[in-house]
Formats: sequence, C-alpha cells, structure tokens
Amino acid sequence: MSVKVSVIGLGYLGATHATAMAELGHQVIGVEVDSKKFDLLSQGQIPFHEPGLQDAFAKHLSAGNIKLTQNFDSDVASADLHFICVGTPQRQGSDAADTSYVMASAKALASHLRPDAVVAGKSTVPVGTATELQKVMSEIAGFDVNLVWNPEFLREGTALEDSLRPDRIVVGAWNEHSLDVIKTAYAPILNLGTPFLVLDVPTAELVKVAANAFLATKISFINAMAEVAEVSGADAVSLAKAIGYDERIGNKFLRTGIGFGGGCLPKDIRGFMARAEELGVGSAVEFLKDVDAINLRRRDRVVALAKSELGDVRGKRVTMLGISFKPDSDDLRDSPALEIAQRLSREGAEVTVHDPVSLSALSEKDPSLGRESELVEAVREADLVILGTEWKQYKDADPELLGSLVATKTVIDGRNVLDVDRWQAAGWKVIALGRSIQNA
Ligand code: UGA
Repeated sequence: MSVKVSVIGLGYLGATHATAMAELGHQVIGVEVDSKKFDLLSQGQIPFHEPGLQDAFAKHLSAGNIKLTQNFDSDVASADLHFICVGTPQRQGSDAADTSYVMASAKALASHLRPDAVVAGKSTVPVGTATELQKVMSEIAGFDVNLVWNPEFLREGTALEDSLRPDRIVVGAWNEHSLDVIKTAYAPILNLGTPFLVLDVPTAELVKVAANAFLATKISFINAMAEVAEVSGADAVSLAKAIGYDERIGNKFLRTGIGFGGGCLPKDIRGFMARAEELGVGSAVEFLKDVDAINLRRRDRVVALAKSELGDVRGKRVTMLGISFKPDSDDLRDSPALEIAQRLSREGAEVTVHDPVSLSALSEKDPSLGRESELVEAVREADLVILGTEWKQYKDADPELLGSLVATKTVIDGRNVLDVDRWQAAGWKVIALGRSIQNA
C-alpha cells in the first residue's frame, strides 16, 4: 500500500530517505528550505557523492515520484507521514548537538499537520528531544501530535542500500496508530523479514547515539592497541585479525589507521557526553573523552611521522592520497586526512591532494591546498606520499610506476591497505600506523 510521505531536510539523510521511500513505491514530497540545495536537487543533482544514489534520485524526480518544495505548502500538509531528516551538527563552541533545525522544522510543520498524520523523527538527537518536540508541536497544532522516533543507521557511501536493506528498523512510539502508519511505509522491507523493534521513545533516541558511540569505541580501542604496538614491536593489524575471530568481539570496525571522521561519529560522541552531563550522569560516558582523544592522537602521529621523515617540512612536497573521511564519499567533515594535510601545509609543506571525487568539495572547503586529479601528476616529485583514504584505486596502484615519479619513495599508509611486500619490492619505504615494518 502506498503512503504519501514528506521528507523534511534533503541533506545526506533526507535525500537518501526520499529516494528510498520512492523506491518502496511511495509518493514523496521533499522539503528543502536552502535555495542553493533546492536548485541543485530540482535539476536531479544531489550535492554529495555516493555511487548510484544520484541516478536513483533523478529517476524518481523525473518520474514524478519525488516532488520538491521550499515551503510547508498544501502538498506537504496532505502527507500521511512526515520524516524529519534535518541535521544536528555540533554546536559552535560546545560539544552539544545543535537541535535548532529539528525544532524549527517541527514547529513549521506543526501548523500544517492533519490530526491523523504521523511525524517520524530520523535526525540523531539527544535523548529527551522527542518528548519536547511532541509537546511543542501539539501546542502549535492544537491537538496531540502523533510523533514517533525512527533512527536511521545508514552509512555514507552505501546509504541507499543500507536504507533499503537495513539490519533492523527501530521505532519509538506513543500510540498504535503511529505504528500502523510506519509499518505501512516500511512494509516492503518488513516483508523481507527485517527485524522491527518497537521501543519506548527515549530508548529509540538513545539506540542511535549508543550505536555510534559503540562503533567509535571499537575503532579507538584498536587504535589504542596500535599505540601500544608501535612501541612494543607488535602488529596491530594482525592483532585485530586475531581478536576478531572471537565472535564475541567480531572483526568489523577494527581497522586501525588514522581513525574516524565524518559528520556523525565525532559529533555524536561529543553530543552524547554533553547530554549525559546535563542529565547528571556525565561520568557514565566519560570514557568517550578518551575515545575522542585516542582518535585525534592518530592524526598527531601521522604529522609526527611526516616530520621525522622530512626533517624541516618547509618547502617539502607532500602528496595526500584521498581527502574524504571515507571512500565512496566526498564528505570532508572532520576528515582525518584533511586535518593532516592542513596541518602539514600550515607548517610550510607544499601539499598536493589527490582524490577521485572530492577535489571540488575541497576547493570550496580549503582552496589553499594543492589539488591534482591525475594520480601520476599528484605524486610527481613528491618527497612523501601519505595514504589518507582507502580508495580502491590506491590499493590497486602500481608502486613501480609511482616510484618512478616521486622524489623519495616513502609512503605512510594511514589506512593499512597497501600490500607492504609489493611496495617494498618496488623500492618503497613503507610506514604504517600500528605496525613496526622493517624497511631495507
Ligand atoms: C556512521 C555509522 O556507521 C552509521 O551506522 C550511522 O548511521 C552514521 O554514522 C550516522 O550517524 O549517520 P558513517 O559516518 O557514514 O556512518 O561512516 P562509517 O562507515 O561508520 O565510518 C566512520 C569513520 O570511521 C570513517 O572515517 C572510517 O574511515 C572510520 N573507520 C571505520 C575506521 O577508522 N576503522 C574502521 O574499522 C571502520
């Protein structure tokens, strides 16, 4: 059965969710108040990179399954289900999440709502936000608004696939009617046997931040082991493999390297700490401070390694391979590779960045860094190469060819993806995080 849905906020989450809802056969109206984003979206373009997502979005836009608006107009008001997908970035000058966009869209929506319509929050919010939103929206609407919390667990780069084939759907609800509407919207996914967890609302809010905090902790755990490995002659990559065979530990999210970045894990662990502090249980998640600190120390480590290789970095040519926070994305938010590149550049190195898709995002974010779209040109005459994002083309690169172009055959593998034997055989000195590699 088809449902008329509105999706409010067409950033990564919203644009993906709108596309997913259209793929599931629903009629979608997308609300984006930002004119620049709206204009791009109206032309079938989405302002971030993910393989396949733009094509799917454009297909549904031209077929009329997705319509777009900048206002909360009558078309939006006629929807059965409204998904709030706006961002909750880290607040300026604080660790806390900025929920002002969620509050503003909920208020704007409230005066247009039908009493039987359901509002589903998907944004990542501090626990307690939904209760406040429900109260404020009901006051504006003049009736008890049906609000549910329905967190999203998609990963950038595979967001559409994750939305259509999630490992679970989590909904926190206050009434049966809301659940029925949500179930109808997700019916094709639920019919595949996807676990459907009906929780109370605060638990549903908390599931999202708890999941991200756990993932961040796993990554920082293995990066802490990398610190120990670096001074003890051990190998953190083999260590991760060995502990990962234990099913209780699992082998996912144990890739050691320059750590986590992006628009979610870093700000979500900080927002979680801030919220726990407000609730008087700051000490319960105080360990996340260490998770954050371990993560940031990996960036310091690469800068220190670069300096020890280059001596005085001023005027030295450094090539950064990959600048996005992860492959298959052009997202530069809190990217470890970007921070390392900027720090070396500030200290006087001539940094050239290569990335398969992120160079135009980089020119907007930091035009001061050199950009080169051809890999062979990017490494030419380099005194040091740093692998910052594990794009496939770097794993597959020919170390003989690249070695014939650089000034010095030294590479720091920030993601532990290069075939060390192959690179060494081509004459490279390979330095990797968490590993004591013997070079000739
Ligand atoms: C993360 C979560 O994985 C999603 O479940 C969640 O929905 C999303 O945040 C969100 O809150 O919206 P995402 O930020 O897209 O997704 O990317 P991840 O795949 O989690 O990677 C995050 C960072 O951790 C990347 O910089 C990646 O390079 C790094 N990472 C990941 C490691 O350093 N080691 C690993 O083993 C795994």
